[in-house]
Amino acid sequence: MRLFSTQRHNADPAPVAVATAAARPESEFAHDLLAGLAAQPRSISPKYFYDARGSALFDQICELPEYYPTRTELQILQTHASEIAACIGPRAELVEFGAGSLRKVRLLLDAMDRPARYLPIDISGEHLLQSVARLQQAYSGLDVFPVVADYTRDLILPHTSVGAGRRVGFFPGSTIGNFSPAQALHFLRLAGRVLRGGALLLGADLVKEPALLHAAYNDAQGVTAAFNLNVLARANRELGADFDLSAFAHSAFYNAPEQRIEMHLMSRRSQRIRVCGQTFDFAEGDSLHTENSHKFTIDSLRHLAVAAGFSPGPVWTDANHLFSLHWLQAPT
Ligand code: AVI
Repeated sequence: MRLFSTQRHNADPAPVAVATAAARPESEFAHDLLAGLAAQPRSISPKYFYDARGSALFDQICELPEYYPTRTELQILQTHASEIAACIGPRAELVEFGAGSLRKVRLLLDAMDRPARYLPIDISGEHLLQSVARLQQAYSGLDVFPVVADYTRDLILPHTSVGAGRRVGFFPGSTIGNFSPAQALHFLRLAGRVLRGGALLLGADLVKEPALLHAAYNDAQGVTAAFNLNVLARANRELGADFDLSAFAHSAFYNAPEQRIEMHLMSRRSQRIRVCGQTFDFAEGDSLHTENSHKFTIDSLRHLAVAAGFSPGPVWTDANHLFSLHWLQAPT
């Protein structure tokens, strides 16, 4: 298996595809956490949820009865697989942004007409390789080209393979909702460049009854709370911080004017935290903002796509209009 990354690997030849990307993630985590704790309001990027423990917790979230997005998107993909495959066309190259467990892409690969190549992009090389190894057991004839990169930064992909059709991006799960509006626009412009002449299949969670949203981020088993708190546990593990997890409460609520779920960690008492030799004081009730999960209307998502240079095509949703899958033609 060829693996392309920002770091040279002993067994690899000189990489033909590289992404401009970060230095060591640990140092970036330390830098961002220190900056986020020093700022007012305090915040940390949700990308730091996803160490091995956080990724496992997220996989559990996707199976929760309250967390409707994963099963709804899978159901939309299943129901409309042949229509979507017809949009994709023959011999296409499929580029997945943030490869995850590669479960959803199987539905596309099964329906596609002779996929030429599959390029999953993920920042975690280890996670990507494990997922790709499992995928290749089931799709032995498929040309898979894993790319280790941060797809939110400048990204360079290899040329389309000889005889391939167009290049189609796949960005499921409403991960776009975890970006700020400016970051979402930036990502879509970047995706438009690497998919030039092709298209993007994008999953976006829809605005809905706040009670349903609230339940999805406040599950009865407390998995989302553990996922949220894991960012503090990760800081303790990786940076030697001294967060007392029992002194922070998971808080998730729907901010209707901003059309987003906000997740916070709220200090249960006044306390002093040490991270990398610096101290930070929390009063009782102070918050560390850990995630926004924006919800969209069909129109708001299409407007965003147009602002990034895409031409919106068909949209597929479920019967209850919980989730949407958008076909977006990339700029030429
Ligand atoms: C990955 N992302 C789209 C999830 C979401 O719903 O915003 C992350 C998540 N956070 C809490 N639960 C799930």
